[in-house]
Amino acid sequence: RFADVAQAPPDPILGVSEAFRASTSPSKLNLGVGAYRDEDLKPVVLSVVKKAEAKIFSRNENKEYLSIEGFEPFRKATLDLLLGAGHPAIKEGRAAVIQSLSGTGSLRVGAAFIARFLKGSTVYISNPTWGNHRNIFGDEGVKWEYYRYFDPETVGLDFKGLMEDLKAAPQGSVVVLHGCAHNPTGVDPTPEQWAAIADLCQERNLLPFFDVAYQGFATGDLDKDAFAPRLFVDRGLEIMVSQSYSKNLGLYGERVGALVMVLKDKETATRCLSQLKRLARALYSNPPTHGARIAAEVVNDSELFEEWKGEMRGMAGRIERVRGELQRALEAKCPDKDWSFITKQIGMFSFTGLTPSQVDNMTNKHQVYMTRDGRISLAGLNSAKVEYLANAIVDSVRN
Ligand code: LMR
Repeated sequence: RFADVAQAPPDPILGVSEAFRASTSPSKLNLGVGAYRDEDLKPVVLSVVKKAEAKIFSRNENKEYLSIEGFEPFRKATLDLLLGAGHPAIKEGRAAVIQSLSGTGSLRVGAAFIARFLKGSTVYISNPTWGNHRNIFGDEGVKWEYYRYFDPETVGLDFKGLMEDLKAAPQGSVVVLHGCAHNPTGVDPTPEQWAAIADLCQERNLLPFFDVAYQGFATGDLDKDAFAPRLFVDRGLEIMVSQSYSKNLGLYGERVGALVMVLKDKETATRCLSQLKRLARALYSNPPTHGARIAAEVVNDSELFEEWKGEMRGMAGRIERVRGELQRALEAKCPDKDWSFITKQIGMFSFTGLTPSQVDNMTNKHQVYMTRDGRISLAGLNSAKVEYLANAIVDSVRN
């Protein structure tokens, strides 16, 4: 019966973590998955999360099911975080919010919605993009295409290519945009470029679908990092957004996130939410409680919210620091090459330009685990390992 089931390949990102765990090398370094580590390379539970949990436990709450759309205080919190508290779209009740299973689950509910209600539309994703986008839309049977995004020559945005491709996209297509800190390139459009993309979406009736997985990790400021989706909403565009609390609250395994649709009026939002609930019910019924309680506790409590911002800045700052250290180490060891891209890129990652065979050298010879697209997670690097990593990169580039 199952004889024809072929072995699936390891996941391009989570498979790297599996390989890392299996390695017995003492010098192994995991720069694969985007998960924050401290200077001792240990996972971090934020202090605000511990405080929120203490409050939650003191209330001795039950384990009843949440409603399909999720925990009400979390749904409020997540909209406040995305659009800014008091935003007109919130007051007008024209945002549909469904709590879902972090970024992936929220994107998947969105993909299911597109498959059902925007039948035949093509979803445009950036080239390159986060490895799971293709799976998420592909598994829902949604047709996807790439739009140009990254220019290896300038190690920057291929804005001309992006605009050309989106101009050529059929009217009504969906465009997946990374809200901030593009994964894997760490290259974002400027505010002016965002405005031009918004204009184009309006002209061509394209539906922007923002993947907001790193709010707070681009600049260390939650509001600044919500610039792009807020700009689109303020220009009157309808948007879809998937939000993740994995990175900014460090709630990776709790699977906390939301799918938001900001729509033209309340009546549309009510109808769309009813369908999102219908889709989620069949996919996983209703979302988990614990992480949503934590996120709501932090965002809705002004004291914890301020403290969180400080912790965010601390995480973003540590990454910023190791970026600088890595760039300087590479400049010292290999001065004939321009390494300035490392500190120009933002967010958790650096897109190194290493080829797949160079990546194999990084892993096989130096036990540096990273994705084969050449991305390294700087959240997994500390000062003590900068020299080691720089030597491995130089050796891989030269061979
Ligand atoms: C990543 O890109 O490393 C993260 O988003 C983790 C994941 O789920 O792939």
